[in-house]
Amino acid sequence: MLSWMTPHKELVGLDIGTSSIKAVHLQQSRSSYKVAELGIVPIHPETIVDGIIMDATALSAAIRQLFDKHGITLKDVAFSVSGHSVIIKKIKVPAMKTAELREGIAWEAERHIPYSIEDVNLDFQILREAGSGEPEMDVLLVAVKKDTLNDYLAVISAAGLNAAVVDVDSFAIENAFTMPAQPQADEIVALVNVGAAVTTINILYGGISDFTRDSSLGGNRHTESLQRSLGVSFEQAETLKRGELVDGHSIVEAEPVIEAANSELAGEIRRSFDFYYSTSQRDTIHRMVLSGGCALLSGLAPYLSNALELPVEIANPFQHISADPKKFDVQYLARIAPQMTVAAGLALRETDDGAG
Ligand SMILES: Nc1ncnc2c1ncn2[C@@H]1O[C@H](COP(=O)(O)OP(=O)(O)OP(=O)(O)O)[C@@H](O)[C@H]1O
Ligand SMILES: [Mg+2]
Repeated sequence: MLSWMTPHKELVGLDIGTSSIKAVHLQQSRSSYKVAELGIVPIHPETIVDGIIMDATALSAAIRQLFDKHGITLKDVAFSVSGHSVIIKKIKVPAMKTAELREGIAWEAERHIPYSIEDVNLDFQILREAGSGEPEMDVLLVAVKKDTLNDYLAVISAAGLNAAVVDVDSFAIENAFTMPAQPQADEIVALVNVGAAVTTINILYGGISDFTRDSSLGGNRHTESLQRSLGVSFEQAETLKRGELVDGHSIVEAEPVIEAANSELAGEIRRSFDFYYSTSQRDTIHRMVLSGGCALLSGLAPYLSNALELPVEIANPFQHISADPKKFDVQYLARIAPQMTVAAGLALRETDDGAG
């Protein structure tokens, strides 16, 4: 969580993606969670382009519509940003106390951020405290461009909501994964969230972030290739991706186009893995957990598993979260679960940050 915002107790996780907006409200009783409300609403592909809000009015109206439709009355939300406006870097700083680092973080950040420090909001997380006698410690530095962040805050406020927590997609995904499960000490897991415009990679070593990267290659690549190769509209391409029929076009025609885009995506992920291997002392990633809307793309998980030679499982952020079958269609929940990973990770923020 970026710390310049004061955390509240009950929050709605709000994931403002470039293709759809997702909201998850979880209720906690003792140590277990229950889905209170949940929803997803598509937005026009030109509403947010390259992480920049192009149509703020349409976006806040869509958020309002999502909350109204699902009867979500809570006003406090946790939301996240991703892509170009976010920089996450693992840095080494002299061993010091958290409070001291908070004072000095701007000075430390200066050398690592390609923007002027005045133009970004900064936060950090101490990954590993220095052992006795060690001069340095590992810190994860997070910088978010102020103008982008302010645009999102304005949209949220125009929707009648209060941004209580600001986060980045990468950490929300990590939270959805690590909150219920106890990570194994030496296991290296790649959390890969493939959205429409952004693919977020967060590699965890023993449950702690070891490498993160946002790439601007996502499911839009499949959509655009289908549009170009088959001469179909955006909506028709999206329909074909879901494995549904479109007049005059068969799934058989779409398959090689989708596979070519899968191959590009695998190449992009491989480059990140190779970079990780060359800059860390690690040589194996044990498994991948695939999330985001593209995890629903049939064939992507086995394709990546085969191309990258590691087991790939599809994320289920609701694995340890119950839902009332009278209120929710359980099959529907299970189907969209991977796409709700960021929103679920944000919704889970209420306990680790809010309670204490
Ligand atoms: N059932 C499905 N089958 C195949 N692909 C799907 C399915 N549902 C969604 N997708 C694809 O998933 C992508 C959207 O995923 P997601 O909702 O995670 O993105 P987003 O959060 O809106 O965007 P981003 O995070 O990239 O800004 C789109 O490319 C869409 O075509
Ligand atoms: Mg997304």
